[in-house]
Amino acid sequence: MIEKKDLLYEGKAKKLFKTNDENVLLSEFKDDLTAFNAEKKGSESGKGALNCEISTKLFELLEKNGIKTHLVEKISKNEQLVKKCEIIKIEVIVRNVATGSLSKRLGIKDGEILPFALVEFCLKDDALGDPFINDEHCLLLNLVSNKDEIELIKQKARKINEILLIFFAERKLRLIDFKIEFGKDKNGEIILADEISPDSCRFWDKDTNEKLDKDRFRQNLGSVKVAYEEVLRRILKDEK
Ligand code: TYD
Repeated sequence: MIEKKDLLYEGKAKKLFKTNDENVLLSEFKDDLTAFNAEKKGSESGKGALNCEISTKLFELLEKNGIKTHLVEKISKNEQLVKKCEIIKIEVIVRNVATGSLSKRLGIKDGEILPFALVEFCLKDDALGDPFINDEHCLLLNLVSNKDEIELIKQKARKINEILLIFFAERKLRLIDFKIEFGKDKNGEIILADEISPDSCRFWDKDTNEKLDKDRFRQNLGSVKVAYEEVLRRILKDEK
């Protein structure tokens, strides 16, 4: 039986606890919502549980499709056991459609479909405001050990995108973009970590382009929880 021990780290959306197994941590999903590098703060009761369930389902889907992840198992409505790994300090962003900061930075029209899945990197550093970085910055800052690791991260990110695009298309959701994080497990293998949820993805309804993700919070559109519930409902459509 795994026991929850000391708090190791508290992030914006999750708390990470030690357990009695040194190779396993406990990730607790919080109800807090933040945007614009935590300049905008809020909370939505039940959001943590929704993200925990959504992220668990998506990590299980990815595992089934050959992507190794840190997930061990979901143990309560808002808690997961995860393999301990060393987080690579790169936020990996994959985009299928231009919106958000991409449209702002490069002037690509909001909603324009990109000719290929664009992979971008940000430095995971709140104090610096998570700046965009390129492959050479990753090496310069020793975020990875070598160029091959960068290529592996890009390959994995593209494969994850392909799996998720098909899964969500079957559920009438457009996967616009998302952010993922990787870690190195105790054998040095690069595995998917953190979460995949409406906090870290953009989903638009296939028919109406209604936003069903954290943009509802970012842009004060209301019904944040209703939107996250709808994403979960569609993920579960084939179950039961
Ligand atoms: P992006 O358009 O760069 O950011 P912004 O939220 O400033 O418009 O975000 C692209 C995708 O990555 C989007 O689905 C949100 C997600 N993301 C995060 O979850 N966390 C982050 O720190 C960043 C930069 C992006």
